Amino acid sequence: MRLQPREYEIGEHKLVLRSPEKEEAEMLCSYLARVCGETRFMMQGADECKDLSIEDEEQFILSHIEEPDACLIIAELDGQHIGNASFNAVGPSRRNHHRANVGIAIYLDYTGKGIGKTMFQVLLDTIEACGFESAELTVIEGNERAKHMYETFGFAEVGRIPKANKYDDGTYADDILMYKDLRT
Ligand SMILES: CC(C)(COP(=O)(O)OP(=O)(O)OC[C@H]1O[C@@H](n2cnc3c(N)ncnc32)[C@H](O)[C@@H]1OP(=O)(O)O)[C@@H](O)C(=O)NCCC(=O)NCCS
Repeated sequence: MRLQPREYEIGEHKLVLRSPEKEEAEMLCSYLARVCGETRFMMQGADECKDLSIEDEEQFILSHIEEPDACLIIAELDGQHIGNASFNAVGPSRRNHHRANVGIAIYLDYTGKGIGKTMFQVLLDTIEACGFESAELTVIEGNERAKHMYETFGFAEVGRIPKANKYDDGTYADDILMYKDLRT
């Protein structure tokens, strides 16, 4: 689905949340490589994003606009793209189509300013408007800011996959599964 542009004030800055256009695919490929390189808390390394083609990203953008139960939201601060948030149904089966899978990432320079909370509220409102019964996500162990934000919105830890992430330096981090029942 398409999110019509919405404007917010973050201090003295203007935040716009909207769906991206197909023509912004190249920008979103660069975004993915950058956010994946900025922290240990993304699901892949920056070098692994280089295989994503502009055509793949265009398809990703279009599918999130055309599917009624999916949405990709980009955030612009004073006209500059700074982050993304998205959701889609967990799977195509009727048995799990009531569950939304959620993701969000902002460039590190723009974190800690209340932008994530603003984006996440819009994302959750849109998920609820779509009729999903629950929302879920995975956060990597140690990502205290993200975990705190999800808890603020009513998500709770429901499980862990020990050592789910193995880094190039030989260290590991768990995946923490978080869940929110949207009907309560
Ligand atoms: C996770 C993320 C989306 C949060 O957005 P944000 O704009 O940085 O967060 P906000 O400024 O809106 O603040 C969120 C909350 O975390 C709190 N917080 C900030 N830093 C924190 C820290 N180090 N530990 C715990 N809580 C922290 C804030 O105080 C705020 O809580 P409050 O409302 O109780 O005051 C953003 O930091 C991000 O994209 N990080 C990099 C990529 C990433 O980790 N994505 C999530 C993958 S699961």
